[in-house]
Amino acid sequence: LVVITAHELVLGIIILFLCKIVRCVNGCGKASFSSCNPKVCIVGSGPAGFYTAQHLIKARPDVEVDIFERLPIPFGLVRFGVAPDHPEVKNVINTFTQTAKHPRCNFYGHVNVGKDVSIEELRQAYHAVVLSYGAEGNRRMGVPGEDLTGVYSAKDFVGWYNGLPSCQELSPDLSCETAVILGQGNVALDVARVLLSPIDILKSTDITQPALEALAKSQVQRVLIVGRRGPMQVACTIKELREMVNLPGTRPEMVAADFDGVTAALKDLPRPRKRLTELMLKAALENPGEKEQERRNKASRIWGLRFFRSPIEVLADPNHSRTAGIRLAVNRLEGSGEGACAVLTGEVEDVTCGLVISSIGYKSLPIDPLVPFEPRKAIVPNTMGRVHQATGLYCSGWLKTGPTGVIATTMNNSFDTARSLVEDMNSGNLDVSSAKPGSQIVSALLEKRGVKPVTFSDWEKIDNVEMRRGEAKGKPREKILTVDEMLQVARA
Ligand SMILES: Cc1cc2nc3c(=O)[nH]c(=O)nc-3n(C[C@H](O)[C@H](O)[C@H](O)COP(=O)(O)OP(=O)(O)OC[C@H]3O[C@@H](n4cnc5c(N)ncnc54)[C@H](O)[C@@H]3O)c2cc1C
Ligand SMILES: NC(=O)c1ccc[n+]([C@@H]2O[C@H](COP(=O)([O-])OP(=O)(O)OC[C@H]3O[C@@H](n4cnc5c(N)ncnc54)[C@H](OP(=O)(O)O)[C@@H]3O)[C@@H](O)[C@H]2O)c1
Ligand SMILES: *[C@@H]1O[C@H](CO)[C@@H](O)[C@H](O)[C@H]1NC(C)=O
Ligand SMILES: *[C@@H]1O[C@H](CO)[C@@H](O)[C@H](O)[C@H]1NC(C)=O
Repeated sequence: LVVITAHELVLGIIILFLCKIVRCVNGCGKASFSSCNPKVCIVGSGPAGFYTAQHLIKARPDVEVDIFERLPIPFGLVRFGVAPDHPEVKNVINTFTQTAKHPRCNFYGHVNVGKDVSIEELRQAYHAVVLSYGAEGNRRMGVPGEDLTGVYSAKDFVGWYNGLPSCQELSPDLSCETAVILGQGNVALDVARVLLSPIDILKSTDITQPALEALAKSQVQRVLIVGRRGPMQVACTIKELREMVNLPGTRPEMVAADFDGVTAALKDLPRPRKRLTELMLKAALENPGEKEQERRNKASRIWGLRFFRSPIEVLADPNHSRTAGIRLAVNRLEGSGEGACAVLTGEVEDVTCGLVISSIGYKSLPIDPLVPFEPRKAIVPNTMGRVHQATGLYCSGWLKTGPTGVIATTMNNSFDTARSLVEDMNSGNLDVSSAKPGSQIVSALLEKRGVKPVTFSDWEKIDNVEMRRGEAKGKPREKILTVDEMLQVARA
């Protein structure tokens, strides 16, 4: 009896071994591992998706991660958000590329989760699903005239100059003299800087060719960045404000009365806010030195921060039904510090302008009626990344926290989510004892539906073509602007 059992044992081991070889041969070309390994699927390949994957792979030597991305190309807002004149920020792509090339990670681009494959199907196929699909909508001002020609969301305007395929039709009209940007966050400053930068600076960035041509012909001479609260409540950071202050060919123009009482309040501000406010005061009130005065005298373009103003209506040119100005409510502040509230005074003010860009925040959208969504905060309700009332479902990035935070913040909160997931695997709260089919079944589903995913090496072909096209023009890359051409290059 003992002998037979030993034989069976050996036979069992041989069968197991053979199965493993079979599994290694099929699939995507990379070695696939024992199907007993925990399988995690990540939706979205922005910083949140990649940082979550990175931590999972590191924390569990057996976990396999598949990343699904709607576009044929990875990296989310690092490619389509970060300003073209901030190339150093995009270095995180090197780390993401290492993760994507890890033997236990696979990238499936051009797969629209929620449409090509449902969340339910992913939850069946994987032990865990992490939602990291970001914030692809935007907050609306909710005022009359918001849909007039000449009014754009910062999300669309940024998508346009950064080559997001869905925003290429925007072709904004830049034939007016004054542009008004609503909101005073870093996105607002990115937009202001791109609108006012000398074309020679933009020319050597990865800004798209159509945007470069439109900006070269732009008539915009004056950009007002309007906030509903005061100078001590701006949402931008000092580095970005300093870039405005130093932007060649431009000078600041502020309203001194907006800064009443600010100098006196400086001493009580926390340090980063204090330094930011000092820089603003300097630009607004101080008489510049001789050299700076000379620079300002030569500047033909103007930027200014405006405070205590909320949009109440975009005004139309009655003859052309396009933007002719904006009506602003005059506010006063109630309370002080970060939590101060804007309260209407009843006064209004009209500003003439031909371009209005609303930069009051991005917004996450629900992906599937079966996935919990908190409509007020526009996030997936979660505790440390564990989606409420949905075992095996997690979230990270802007979808988890709301649409604020730099890449480092997104990294932190994505690591936190990965930690929660690993904890649940280790504690048994998440059952990973039974095998799951993972990408094998999802690939079959996609094939049946006529969806052909783009692999990471396909993306590298696109990447190479873009860099080659850019080289000829002294740009880091010339971005491909349509999904069709991306696919064409990927499959060439
Ligand atoms: C204009 C702008 C400029 C910025 N500049 C900087 C900067 O200079 N420095 C800095 O540190 N931070 C910057 N940030 C912040 C930074 O971009 C964010 O912190 C970060 O990108 C958030 O990561 P995320 O992965 O949550 O979202 P995202 O980067 O938006 O990634 C989400 C991904 O999910 C994909 N996706 C969406 N829906 C689906 C679906 N249904 N199926 C599959 N995939 C889907 C999207 O295509 C996208 O690739 C900027 C943000 C903006 C908006
Ligand atoms: N260079 C960089 O590092 C960089 C570049 C771009 C973006 N980012 C980051 O990406 C994140 C998103 O940036 P963001 O600029 O979109 O958001 P943000 O920093 O949250 O700024 C939003 C701005 O819109 C205003 N606002 C919101 N709702 C409004 C309303 N209903 N009416 C009028 N004004 C309203 C806010 O004012 P209140 O304060 O009064 O609400 C604030 O000034 C931020 O964390 C930012 O730092 C970083
Ligand atoms: C609209 O057209 C009328 C008549 O052609 C002209 O007098 C008026 O100035 C125009 N208004 C604007 C805002 O362009
Ligand atoms: C990220 O987390 C680290 C460690 O907890 C912390 O020191 C750092 O300030 C955090 N960064 C951001 C941007 O939140």
